[in-house]
Amino acid sequence: AAPLRIGMVGLGTVGTGVARILLEHAQRTADRAGRRIELVRVAVRNVAKARAEITKAIEITTDPMKVATATDVDVVVELIGGLNPAREIVTAALESGKDVVTANKALLCNYGDDLFALARRKERSISFEAAVAGGVPIIAAIGQAMTGNQITSLAAIVNGTSNFILTRMFHENSSYEDAVKEAQRLGYAEADPSMDVKGTDAAQKLGLLTQLAFGRRVLPEQFPVQGIDELSLMDLKFADELGYAIKLLATAKLVGGHLELHTQPTLIRHSRPLAQVNGPYNMIELTGDAVGKAWFSAMGAGQMATASAVVADLVDVAVGRARINFERLHLWAEQETFPLQRIE
Ligand code: NDP
Ligand code: HSE
Repeated sequence: AAPLRIGMVGLGTVGTGVARILLEHAQRTADRAGRRIELVRVAVRNVAKARAEITKAIEITTDPMKVATATDVDVVVELIGGLNPAREIVTAALESGKDVVTANKALLCNYGDDLFALARRKERSISFEAAVAGGVPIIAAIGQAMTGNQITSLAAIVNGTSNFILTRMFHENSSYEDAVKEAQRLGYAEADPSMDVKGTDAAQKLGLLTQLAFGRRVLPEQFPVQGIDELSLMDLKFADELGYAIKLLATAKLVGGHLELHTQPTLIRHSRPLAQVNGPYNMIELTGDAVGKAWFSAMGAGQMATASAVVADLVDVAVGRARINFERLHLWAEQETFPLQRIE
């Protein structure tokens, strides 16, 4: 079969991980995809940076639109983050008939409706397993494995940076500032780490999960959002003495037919699985009306865990599963299954 040709926009933490898997495990990936997955074009901001992964055979440019519209590219992988020019790049890629894979929750939370509708009109797919909880296959879990259920509640640790910072402060006596710097050094934090510590990133992910689980599009402005930036070591220690861990928890639950959402630091009893999630790990606890409680956990941030999700999406495109999965996710705006409860 003809190879699947990849144009990648962004070769930072995640993009480099994806390039590593595609180049170092080309045969394994080809075996699983039924054809070779070839990185043919890459766009970055600064071409002068050393890029050990990229061979001379791969065209590297500073013009992402060239990658998005190239005739020798089948799939555009958007890994630059932020709203613009990511929106224009994804739009151009879909307009020119390409499938899209992205890890960009900010983009999908803000402009998902238009982009999903465009992908549908063009009979293309947008795959975004890496956009929520890095290595945790939570989009597949909700979109495929849990479809026999009505999900009734969702409680999630979905910001690896915040969880890493809290773990460092409590278990390793690190200062908040040092822990933030370490999260940046390890590639967990967003380009603007206030997105992590103020709860915005977790709220955007909650928005996406809510759309999948409850058929309702919600923006972070529509529910209370608080981050970990005002927590102190004393708070963590007092909570511990009382038998609780404090975690940045994103929750959505059905209460009397209404949806109630929050993202905030939350006391969680030590005995609950969510309380035991440390470092950059994430966990999503779902309650389904058939299955009961189910837990999904893995590294939520970091190069290779996130790249693992991006490559899985590429294999889905290669075998023709991505369009089917995308159609089945029911992300369409006309669906507003549950009304939002107003929280003052
Ligand atoms: P980085 O900042 O490490 O990398 C961004 C890349 O995009 C760099 O290669 C940069 O180029 C390139 N870039 C930025 N702007 C442009 C532009 N205008 N044109 C061309 N290239 C551009 O980000 P991450 O890899 O950490 O994150 C990428 C995406 O993945 C984000 O949406 C993020 O939210 C998401 N994500 C990240 C995770 C993580 O653990 N880091 C986990 C899950 C999702 P240059 O190298 O020249 O600077
Ligand atoms: N900054 C994000 C986090 C990356 O720490 O969870 C993964 O989406």
